[in-house]
Amino acid sequence: MKNKNLLLTIVALVAVVVGGIFLTNKKDDKKPQTEGETVKVGVLQFVTHEALDEIYRGIQDGLAEEGYKGDKIKIDFMNAEGDQGKIATMSKQLVSNGNQVLVGIATPAAQGLANATSNLPVVMGAITDPVGAKLVKSLEQPGANVTGVACPEPIAQQLDLIKTITPNAKTIGVLYSSNEDNSKLNVETFTELAEKEGYTVLAYPVPSSNEIASTMSVMTSKVDAIWIPQDNTIASAFKTVVASNKEAKVPIFPSADTMVKEGGLASVVVSQHGLGVSTGKMVAKILKGAKPAETPVDVVDQGAPIINKKVAAELGITIPEEVEKAAGEIVE
Ligand code: TRP
Repeated sequence: MKNKNLLLTIVALVAVVVGGIFLTNKKDDKKPQTEGETVKVGVLQFVTHEALDEIYRGIQDGLAEEGYKGDKIKIDFMNAEGDQGKIATMSKQLVSNGNQVLVGIATPAAQGLANATSNLPVVMGAITDPVGAKLVKSLEQPGANVTGVACPEPIAQQLDLIKTITPNAKTIGVLYSSNEDNSKLNVETFTELAEKEGYTVLAYPVPSSNEIASTMSVMTSKVDAIWIPQDNTIASAFKTVVASNKEAKVPIFPSADTMVKEGGLASVVVSQHGLGVSTGKMVAKILKGAKPAETPVDVVDQGAPIINKKVAAELGITIPEEVEKAAGEIVE
């Protein structure tokens, strides 16, 4: 009896020790997650606007497609609401919250995360120019802990569309935020291309969304068309842009499907939801063990035209038949 008790005690002790070793091993184990475990992913969205919201939905869909759904994943989501201070504090929080992979939606959010950690993987969600924004060394060989999805705008096609829909336009105004690295390169590229085609380009950078209405009232009296890059500040206040154009009725060519749906005239765009899905799949790849340093940036740049016919009617513009036929989407 006594021996049996001793034996039981020994068995129990061995079980505890062996179990303990297993548990500690697991904690130290940096290997990819196996089935049945819950992964933790931190997401920082720069600001609220239709396009970024749609990208976040796409990220969740892309992860789900790869099996990360339900209790297989816990998403730690934060939104900095366009506030640089919040980007810094939220980035630190997401790093210390025990997340395995971090995702930055839009350039300022990805930059905040990249500044907060040099070892946790950071996946860029829909970044216009990852090299220009100093997030990666090169698209093919990111080199550090950051990789993700880039969405350079199909600017040449966008300019072609402006030419076809508004053939008499001579002066194009460009509205963007002076604080977003993502807009700088695109504005330069657009200006260069448009000037080569003989247009006069007038740039109107705004320091914040507070200056949009007043800038629009000056700008609309000087230009024949307006082009807007993938700018988060402008996208988040796009209703103000449209409202300030009510009387002037200048055709607006923005760079996202969401902005065309909200009152822009037309554009050549990549799907925002699709950008999110690609980002979600990239996160899954990293969760399964891929190293950001050696994982090339996924460049999504195949655009399709989108036209808002309701806006065209309001502006008294007839969309050429061939443009309508080529459109990937028509907003009625
Ligand atoms: N490309 C933007 C960036 O790098 C983010 C973005 C994605 C965006 N889709 C958009 C901005 C649509 C405005 C509109 O920050």
